[in-house]
Amino acid sequence: MNDQISNLLTESRSFPPPKGFAAGAILGDAVAVAALRARAAADPAAFWGEVAREDLRWQKPFTQTLDWSDAPHAKWFADGTLNLSDNCLDRHCETWRRHKAALIWEGEPIGDQGPEIRTFTYQQLRDAVMRFANGLKLLGVQCGDRVAIYLPMIPEAAIAMLACARIGAVHSVVFGGFSADALGDRCRDTEAKLVITADASYRRGSLIRLKDVVDVALAEGVCPSVQGVVVVRRAHCPIAWQPGRDHAWHDLMAAAQPHCPPTELPAEHPLFILYTSGSTGKPKGLLHTTGGYAAHVTRTMRWVFDLRDDDLYWCTADVGWVTGHSYIVYGPLSNGATVLMYEGAPQSPEKDRFWDIIERHKVTIFYTAPTALRTFMAWGEAPILKHDLSSLRLLGTVGEPINPAAWVWYHEVIGQGRCPIVDTWWQTETGGILIAPLPGVETLVPGTATQPFPGIVADIVDNVGKSQPTDAGGLLVIRHPWPGMARTIWGDRDRYADAYFSKIPGIYFTGDGARRDAKGHFWIMGRVDDVLNVSGHRIGTSEVESALVAHALVAEAAVVGRPDAVTGQAIVAFVTTLGGTDNSPALAQALRAHVAKEIGGLARPAEIRFAAALPKTRSGKIMRRLLRELASGNGVSGDVTTLEDLSVLETLRNSED
Ligand code: WTA
Repeated sequence: MNDQISNLLTESRSFPPPKGFAAGAILGDAVAVAALRARAAADPAAFWGEVAREDLRWQKPFTQTLDWSDAPHAKWFADGTLNLSDNCLDRHCETWRRHKAALIWEGEPIGDQGPEIRTFTYQQLRDAVMRFANGLKLLGVQCGDRVAIYLPMIPEAAIAMLACARIGAVHSVVFGGFSADALGDRCRDTEAKLVITADASYRRGSLIRLKDVVDVALAEGVCPSVQGVVVVRRAHCPIAWQPGRDHAWHDLMAAAQPHCPPTELPAEHPLFILYTSGSTGKPKGLLHTTGGYAAHVTRTMRWVFDLRDDDLYWCTADVGWVTGHSYIVYGPLSNGATVLMYEGAPQSPEKDRFWDIIERHKVTIFYTAPTALRTFMAWGEAPILKHDLSSLRLLGTVGEPINPAAWVWYHEVIGQGRCPIVDTWWQTETGGILIAPLPGVETLVPGTATQPFPGIVADIVDNVGKSQPTDAGGLLVIRHPWPGMARTIWGDRDRYADAYFSKIPGIYFTGDGARRDAKGHFWIMGRVDDVLNVSGHRIGTSEVESALVAHALVAEAAVVGRPDAVTGQAIVAFVTTLGGTDNSPALAQALRAHVAKEIGGLARPAEIRFAAALPKTRSGKIMRRLLRELASGNGVSGDVTTLEDLSVLETLRNSED
């Protein structure tokens, strides 16, 4: 393993904002920012009220800011009305920005003429969104209906999301890497009326055939609410077609009227449902609403990324994750920015594709995940040195803690020492960024996301909610509601309260551990629950366990994470099979494939270990700590005398497939 990657030592250098950067930054005056932080801390709701008034166009102005009377289900700006598609498109079309590029898309394949590039000005994007919104109406979609979006990274993904927002339909984007079963689950849970998909998309030179997955997910009677499927022809490959149910995007656009005014919606109108993994049970459909979410993502986008009109902003996330919702679609477009979207993989056709894109398009802001950076480090510097990256002025990371070695590499090799790095901490539940540097004023220290955004009241507490002193470490909580916070779990209000507001009664618990240093900087240590973070993707151990035990030959399964130098964590599954089964490598392979089929390739265990029994306490609880230690290859330490059967331990230790 590359030494640079495995070096997890703390980096003691700090990086003040480069002079030139601070001078031109939106927030470049440290004294003014300190005053602003103090004002926001004194009255967070009033601060966010100002943000919402300044940053958004309201059809009817609100008079209330936060209503917490139904805690923990917040309402923000509840008596105001607006439309987020209006804020992302129409208001820019009324200015010079109508001819500014909103979206520049690049496909993965490189033909004789180079890669396919599609550019939408704000006007063109609005026209496409209006037509598709009318298309949705033609298919019977009404305000409040749910629409599942299972699309690759193509402009139609943003168009579909914005079209839903325009008519008040609630989108639920499902990442294209999820399986038919996972897609079906989500369509059933949201009772989606329509699914929007594509025939296929390109990734690493292969076709990812999404429509086939939709056909399986919607097989006879499985998702009774779904009345139609809209199919974008991306790859023009042969696909099955169900007349009456399936509609070509192209035909729908041709049939639809061009003009569709934005529907005036109450601030608390549902905008989207997005599923994420928790420590128990099935993935939770977090519900985000319109006004508060819009205010939060618009302001964080501008301040954290120091976003300006001449920027070309590229976030490498997929729209299937919250990062794609907030910082590819809504945050940038609400600010009138130009967003770059890339369809494919970083090694396609060669390992320099990202740097080639940055050079050709002159990307100025680049936002990616630490796991990607560690992959690039492992590929060496040659692919990077082939390209001129001088257009870059700001770099960002999201999704998992960034190890200092990767941070310094990012700063020196990609940013050439010139670009501040914003390490942004947040979650699907939080809607937008909560902890991140303001790059014009913050001195950066590799490995810390620095301070809460103004108006965010974060704290580190012990198990009973007591604030922890400097460097003590504990649970990361948010003490005051914020506008982008999820409002509930779709269809399960009680579970929302229970999952997030019960560990420390009445306070939002993030599931992460952290410590705060003497400067007040937050160091995120990672999840303290049974949620794994593999390549920045959240995966619940219980989901993988349920998938495994659903296999006919599996009796019991316990899933844990082990550290991985590139992906952050890797999934290890301990499995006991039904009597007499041959615990062969072939079976391990079959079980891996089975998990991929049930959930998606992202949940495929890196390793399956067979055992005669799983180690349990006398009360029957699986001893996860012990399994984690075994999975990491560490000698098992601590008290194992409560093991029912010590021989189980020996078997596990020696049973790698
Ligand atoms: C982790 C992604 C450290 C964290 C936006 C959190 C991070 C989970 C960071 C949310 C960061 C995200 N530093 N850890 N900068 N950003 N995380 O819902 O464990 O997919 O709870 O949202 O990712 O993942 P989610």
